[in-house]
Amino acid sequence: MSGKSPGLEARLAAEIQTSGPIPFDRFMERALYDPEDGYYSSGKSAIGKQGDFFTNVSIGPIYGEVLVGQFVEMWQMLGRPAGFTLIEQGAGDGQLAQDILNALAATALAGAPLIVIEPSDALRKIQSEKLSGHDVSWVANADALPELCGVHYSNELFDAFPVHIIRSTGGGWAELYVDRKEESFTWLEMPVAGELAGIVAEFPARAKGFTSEVCLAHRPLLQTIAAKITRGFLLAVDYGMSRESLLAEHRTGGTLSCYRGHRRDSNPLESPGQKDLTAHVNFSLLAQDAVEAGWQFGNFTDQHHFLVGAATSLLLSMDGKTPDAAGRKTLRSLKMLLHPESMGRQFHAILFSKGVSGAGLSGFQYAGKIQL
Ligand SMILES: C[S@@+](CC[C@H](N)C(=O)[O-])C[C@H]1O[C@@H](n2cnc3c(N)ncnc32)[C@H](O)[C@@H]1O
Repeated sequence: MSGKSPGLEARLAAEIQTSGPIPFDRFMERALYDPEDGYYSSGKSAIGKQGDFFTNVSIGPIYGEVLVGQFVEMWQMLGRPAGFTLIEQGAGDGQLAQDILNALAATALAGAPLIVIEPSDALRKIQSEKLSGHDVSWVANADALPELCGVHYSNELFDAFPVHIIRSTGGGWAELYVDRKEESFTWLEMPVAGELAGIVAEFPARAKGFTSEVCLAHRPLLQTIAAKITRGFLLAVDYGMSRESLLAEHRTGGTLSCYRGHRRDSNPLESPGQKDLTAHVNFSLLAQDAVEAGWQFGNFTDQHHFLVGAATSLLLSMDGKTPDAAGRKTLRSLKMLLHPESMGRQFHAILFSKGVSGAGLSGFQYAGKIQL
């Protein structure tokens, strides 16, 4: 076995031969979410030490425990409604949901229902095995959610959304499409059109060859979640930065990365379905689109400041005590999550609210003024 996925590669090649070159977001969508062979939807994605990459969740249960503190605060801000519901999207193998439900049991929110938005049957099976015994239900997409009061949360959801790739022509911007030549996928520059053109029109001029990514896939989701959550919050933690940082002149090659077995490579067109593809979230665009969808912008900060704020009471409770083995493990995990050279500055947390103000949530008490 070569480890290649001829099924998906052949189907993508056939699509291009039949309909012509495809925008990269279409290629990425198939590579990650093809129902049979997509890296995520087939259930072959592997996160953690034995997998392809680490996330906050793989560092340990403390991350979920700290998030639970935020959910309890949100519920209090909403006036402690009885039907408060958690919604997780991008749940992967269900580890974060499990950490959250375990921690929730010791709080006033014990027994609050969790709905997982999961389009992949394979992932849903993995999640339901891990979460058996908890009050969890699943929907295939956000449209299937009931109207409710609660919080939609995600960890590295938006950085797994398909992106368009744009490249400076020197005098403007072109979009990169995927073509098929001599048994390989190749790049093709095409004029920027449609919704993308409106976004790119506001970008600063960059030297010829400067490449970046634009995600449009979050737009319908933000609108649907805004329609379903009548009162509540949206909290997302993701790899990413502001539009200004993403378009900084030195960032000539963009942020699209491929991961397999903890190795990063720079060929997103090779072996579709066999590796993770991810691009940094443009938090400025996400915030702008969320507000247009009906959300009120709450706050934005890096993970370091978010977790120091959210874990303040936990850290104070440990102050002056000699930690036991479990306490030492928790502190080691927190150090990795917080450290500016580790995960503390690469990830950011963003908060939106509806029908309630998010001001005062402890996770954002040390948020500086990062310009979005
Ligand atoms: C980088 S993984 C993160 C997994 C997990 N949250 C963690 O942090 O370990 C991205 C996850 O987002 C999921 N995902 C991407 N688009 C989605 C969508 N539209 N609806 C639900 N899940 C989605 C993928 O299937 C994958 O499980």
